[in-house]
Amino acid sequence: MRAGGSDPIREAVRLLAERRNAVALTGAGISVESGIPSFRGAQGMWAKYDPMEYATLHAFMRSPRKVWAMLSEMVSVCGGAAPNAAHKGLAALEETGVVRAVITQNVDGLHQAAGSRRVIEYHGNLDVLICVSCWKRYPTRERWTPGGVPLCDCGEILKPNVVLFGEPIPWLAQEQAEEEARTCGVLLVIGTSAQVSPACDIPRIAKESGAAVVEINPEPTSLTASVTDIQLQGNASALIARLIELLLDPAV
Ligand code: OAD
Repeated sequence: MRAGGSDPIREAVRLLAERRNAVALTGAGISVESGIPSFRGAQGMWAKYDPMEYATLHAFMRSPRKVWAMLSEMVSVCGGAAPNAAHKGLAALEETGVVRAVITQNVDGLHQAAGSRRVIEYHGNLDVLICVSCWKRYPTRERWTPGGVPLCDCGEILKPNVVLFGEPIPWLAQEQAEEEARTCGVLLVIGTSAQVSPACDIPRIAKESGAAVVEINPEPTSLTASVTDIQLQGNASALIARLIELLLDPAV
């Protein structure tokens, strides 16, 4: 199904209202309007930090102090950010029974801060630090100071509970995300370039299981031509607000 001649946003609203079992898959783009840079593109984190040097498990094990230069920036930017209208809109859609879960690649905690209750953190989060030697865990706020390198009681440098390249996805998050994808009626894919595996497989799993895939992004992505049923081109906050407005009153 492609949203040929009909208005794509009204078509998306019709599907959301009829099926009422939507799941959202979000990426860095949903937090851009909260002031958190995305990863790819001219303004993205990877333009400043080569991911092979700063975002792999191998890089962390080899030079954790260097990797903490990038991690510190993330902790500090994410720690100072607040949820925007897109995060709040998804929480409102969960409250009204339209969206049943959010699968997020983001580690910023903004979906929970906005009030979403069922959030599957596919790439972990920045709230917790883990010792790579003795596995002790600490809340980040207890051990991290701006510009500092957080240490375990055993003396080892702590690693945030985020998935670096070369690490597996937490098994429970992967299992739950795939189950949501297999059983949802609509998958809203919001603010992700869908270039990182296995997260980028989630839309395909949903589609092959019969869901309609609705993409919200200012740019086309690797999914747009092959997987996406309805492409809503624009910023997440404005488009989610419009979806909610039309769900409440299709006549407007
Ligand atoms: P990317 O930086 O790859 O993509 C962000 C997407 O958001 C792009 O497609 C933008 O067009 C879109 N975008 C920008 N502003 C937007 C807005 N206001 N509203 C909606 N969309 C907007 O980020 P991700 O796809 O999330 O993983 O990246 C996936 C993973 O790659 C991350 O979780 C991280 C990264 O490397 C790891 O570090 C393991």
